[in-house]
Amino acid sequence: MATAEKSHDIADIALADEGQRRIEWADRQMPVLRSIRERFANERPLDGIALGCCLHVTSETANLVRALLAGGAEVALCASNPLSTQDDVASALVDRHGAEVYAVKGEDNETYYRHIHSVVDRGPQITMDDGADVVGVLHGERTDQLQNVLGGTEETTTGVIRLKALERQGKLGYPIIAVNDAKTKHFFDNRYGTGQSTLDGVIRATNVLIAGLRLVVIGYGWCGKGVAMRAKGHGAQVIVCEIDPLRALEALMDGFEVMRGVEAAKVGDVFISVTGNRDAIAREMLEVMKSGAIVCNSGHFDVEVNKDDLEAITAERFQVRPFVEGHRTKDGREIFLLADGRLVNLAAAEGHPAAVMDMSFANQALAAEHVARDHSYLEKRVYPVPEEIDREIARLKLASRGVEIDTLTERQREYLASWDQGT
Ligand SMILES: NC(=O)c1ccc[n+]([C@@H]2O[C@H](COP(=O)([O-])OP(=O)(O)OC[C@H]3O[C@@H](n4cnc5c(N)ncnc54)[C@H](O)[C@@H]3O)[C@@H](O)[C@H]2O)c1
Repeated sequence: MATAEKSHDIADIALADEGQRRIEWADRQMPVLRSIRERFANERPLDGIALGCCLHVTSETANLVRALLAGGAEVALCASNPLSTQDDVASALVDRHGAEVYAVKGEDNETYYRHIHSVVDRGPQITMDDGADVVGVLHGERTDQLQNVLGGTEETTTGVIRLKALERQGKLGYPIIAVNDAKTKHFFDNRYGTGQSTLDGVIRATNVLIAGLRLVVIGYGWCGKGVAMRAKGHGAQVIVCEIDPLRALEALMDGFEVMRGVEAAKVGDVFISVTGNRDAIAREMLEVMKSGAIVCNSGHFDVEVNKDDLEAITAERFQVRPFVEGHRTKDGREIFLLADGRLVNLAAAEGHPAAVMDMSFANQALAAEHVARDHSYLEKRVYPVPEEIDREIARLKLASRGVEIDTLTERQREYLASWDQGT
């Protein structure tokens, strides 16, 4: 249970009006989360529970926080990326909704971690991460707080990978629900959300015409598929680089050129990494890129573009426009790095559209309710989101769009359950 004074560390409390308008705009696109908020307000499933959240502080997250508060939780929130905070939203959350927020857009690394510690100081009973940073601190410097925690949730692929590593080593301190792995999350958020918002980030930062460019997507997972699909829609010639033969084959049959990174580097105009891995764009590629190449990342951490390698071949750096840093290389080329190699869709654009976060955050809210209700049955493991939650969210989302679907007839149900019907 949280005991300390309520507190916050945000850019400017005077931005609350603007933030509130954006939160309400996002809310209009989030009917599933809204219906959960209304139910939570009646049932109070999180009554008195201290929630420690480390999420991108955006208008969509604000609507998740509203649902959690309606459910009776005390919410402390910090950012899951130093560049993704919307300062006006942070202000509205503190001023209008009573959340504790520790997040300032552009905060340095030290402040970023101080803010995570501020959330941990509140003694979270449920953690809600996007990239496992709170989990990382609780399992590292702050094991003193581990015994308070009933369970947690994790939003993204990279976080789930880290949690599974902890689980494999037998070190996971409490049960965590992998929200990312819900179908109503990664089928839609990673693919359509990252697809649209990554292109949006590149376009807002550079204002380049995508049509006719050779756009290289590195990593053809859920996010990469979305980015490639949307870039194709803009008229780009899309090249995919992969290390997994199945996914590379899938990209080929989806109609994209597939080649090694170093070959793509020679011909590409724009490079987008979405691998969840380090060094997806490293020296070997940077050395052969054409002058004028634009390089960015939409995977979780800023290790996908190896910035040390870029620095090593750079003679001079210069700021071109917000989120566009020019690197004049020692051999006289220009390479442009967007958003300092951090998530370009969150830094240079606004992250995922609310309509897709509606489903991701509906999963978060229902997973938090599940942890609050069922934690005593859960072991110190990484759990999938229960199937019924996934189906319920898909059903609610379809209903919100006025879409009805058919159901199985009894004869069809029997047929599907049988082994002896048919020839
Ligand atoms: N930008 C966003 O808003 C956003 C949203 C969701 C997820 N993410 C992040 O994006 C990343 C990818 O997520 P995903 O769900 O697509 O994961 P995924 O596991 O479905 O796909 C990653 C793909 O990258 C490939 N890969 C790994 N290393 C590679 C390398 N060196 N070169 C080429 N390909 C390589 C893998 O084989 C895999 O196919 C993760 O870090 C995730 O956390 C970002």
